[in-house]
Amino acid sequence: MTTLDEKNQHRLVRERFTRTAEVFGDFATATRARSAELLARMVGAKGSDCAVDLACGPGTLALRFARHVRWICGLDLTPAILARARRSAQTEGLANLDFALGDAQALPFADGSLDIAVTSYSLHHMPDAARVVDEMARAVKRGGRVGVIDIVASEDAKTAALSNRIERMRDPSHTRTLPKSELQAIFAANGLRILAEEEHEQDRAFTHWMHVAGWKPGDREFDETRRLMEATMAEDSAGFHPRFVAADAKEDEDAPEIHIINTVLFLAAEKI
Ligand SMILES: C[S@@+](CC[C@H](N)C(=O)[O-])C[C@H]1O[C@@H](n2cnc3c(N)ncnc32)[C@H](O)[C@@H]1O
Repeated sequence: MTTLDEKNQHRLVRERFTRTAEVFGDFATATRARSAELLARMVGAKGSDCAVDLACGPGTLALRFARHVRWICGLDLTPAILARARRSAQTEGLANLDFALGDAQALPFADGSLDIAVTSYSLHHMPDAARVVDEMARAVKRGGRVGVIDIVASEDAKTAALSNRIERMRDPSHTRTLPKSELQAIFAANGLRILAEEEHEQDRAFTHWMHVAGWKPGDREFDETRRLMEATMAEDSAGFHPRFVAADAKEDEDAPEIHIINTVLFLAAEKI
């Protein structure tokens, strides 16, 4: 991406996560606490560690990691979602936690100055996901740990391309979901030795998936994303495994609910 493209990408990210700071913040903090705890175990978070949570959003990882490490910084590009994260830290009485405005592609930390760098559900919003992992690997010391949680795309390029098209219709700040093999290769290229890896399938109701992106039925983005998703149903051509779920249908609604599957990868590694 050129500098101009990156600026535009940052604008799209801020627009999306300012517009949905509360609805997305509620969703992420309520549903991702267990994932944060799992990642903390996978990277072996402990009381002497200093850590960073990149693209922390409402503090999804940082608020949980603060209970395990000495200090953690949550870094994000969107002021509105950082304000929400700070509010939560205050409500929860967490004092070993700071939040800062910044770009995950250019971390404000010296080489080897941290023990842990983590990020969740963020790489698919980055202009260059490899650069983010590169920064995480740079900022941690030898023996330090890097942890990532993110959705992954199919290894089949055509299926992945269609999935990314649907994601971008839902959320213009979506750049690209990586396939697992690409993420593993990026880790290896940065001298990161995999310590643990898990893949989880998350069932999402389409209407709620759109709700946390800020859209409702009748919005152009909602209706067009649904049309694209329905078109993939017969062959599962985007890899979302979409299906109608009759039990969710309401009498006064024409369209039955669709459920989809998000495949989520948890990756923990050590810098060698
Ligand atoms: C889908 S949210 C994930 C938030 C949180 N990590 C979670 O798991 O709930 C993506 C977040 O990435 C942030 N973001 C996107 N691009 C970024 C960048 N280049 N640098 C820092 N933050 C970024 C957005 O502002 C948003 O808060």
